[in-house]
Amino acid sequence: MNEKFEIIIPTLFGLEAMVSRELYRLGYDTTRVENGRVTFMGDYDAVCRANIWLRCGERVLIKAGEFKAETADELYDGVRAIEWEQFLDRNDAFPVKGRTTRSVLASDRASQTIIKKAIADRLGNEYGISWLTEDGVTYQIQFTIIDNTATLMIDTTGAALHKRGYRAKSNLAPLRETLAAAMVMISYWKFEQPLLDPFCGSGTIPIEAAMFKRNIAPGLRRGFAFEQFPQIDTQEVAAIREEALSEIHRDVSLEIYASDIDPAAIELTRENASKAGVGEFITASVADARSIHMEKPRGSIITNPPYGERLSDVKECAKLYGQIGKTFSKLDRWSYYILTSHDDFEREFGRRADKRRKLYNGMLRCCLYQYYGDAPSKKGKEK
Ligand SMILES: C[S@@+](CC[C@H](N)C(=O)[O-])C[C@H]1O[C@@H](n2cnc3c(N)ncnc32)[C@H](O)[C@@H]1O
Repeated sequence: MNEKFEIIIPTLFGLEAMVSRELYRLGYDTTRVENGRVTFMGDYDAVCRANIWLRCGERVLIKAGEFKAETADELYDGVRAIEWEQFLDRNDAFPVKGRTTRSVLASDRASQTIIKKAIADRLGNEYGISWLTEDGVTYQIQFTIIDNTATLMIDTTGAALHKRGYRAKSNLAPLRETLAAAMVMISYWKFEQPLLDPFCGSGTIPIEAAMFKRNIAPGLRRGFAFEQFPQIDTQEVAAIREEALSEIHRDVSLEIYASDIDPAAIELTRENASKAGVGEFITASVADARSIHMEKPRGSIITNPPYGERLSDVKECAKLYGQIGKTFSKLDRWSYYILTSHDDFEREFGRRADKRRKLYNGMLRCCLYQYYGDAPSKKGKEK
């Protein structure tokens, strides 16, 4: 598993630096950061570790090639020049998907067809066959053509990394697990202090918080596309999983509270938390965020309140923000981290944030408003 290649981690916009930091902690130096993706050099061992450990990345892709392409011929020739036979055997399947952005080759579908044909021609020629059965291992080919640069990649992940496996069911407006994890990692929450999500929905933030502080690898309990690749040493993968299991901080006790006005959300949170193996650390209860009260003088609220999609909902949300602004102000030594797409949040909430950070929940532009109770100390911050 020692051959090195470029590995690309696509991210939600705004999480590139978080992913770079995660890679650094895994022992890899980022070689390139672009909007929505981070690149580093690694081998199959790195592919495995990145899939199992990354909390904020969306997938792990092996870069097969990159070149300028403004015409169909340039795209075909560029793809055909890549040594696909180094990855794919004569009967392997290679579905192709991707997108083009700000490029002369503007059609996703037409580019996909050209790429499929170029790979098929290359493999047919290399293996001396005219018919590719595609009944072997599946290598999902992904491409982007951005500003006339085509990048060809092989997906090693399968279902995206945010699908940890604990949230089979979710409520109407769930937060991406990768974004929830990032919110927790951005915060200055210290595990000796309580954490509260008073708008917990399906429980994503409390669950990601518990997994992060217990050092539970998010991919520990799920499978990945790369596990079918013959290049992979399955014993080494098993060893990396064993190692991750042994790295769980079993002595960390946590005080995490999840509440929501909707009893069905609380049921869901309990179910999801127990599926994620962190049920014992999360106390979930039905409560109205407008009247919450916490005993402890210090702690962190990390939350994603409703933001309202229709105008009437937006007005309701504005009112809600004003009400929680008053409630939260009584927790004056607590820190709060509030993610919303509502532009006037600070005015409605009644206080300017100490810090703001632009983040995206899928394609929805949001802002994480950060309010510090006691001045944050970087000491002991786990980033
Ligand atoms: C955007 S969703 C939160 C999604 C959540 N982060 C998740 O990943 O599933 C907002 C949640 O706020 C809850 N909610 C609305 N008004 C509330 C209130 N006054 N008090 C507590 N929860 C409320 C809704 O029931 C909904 O579950």
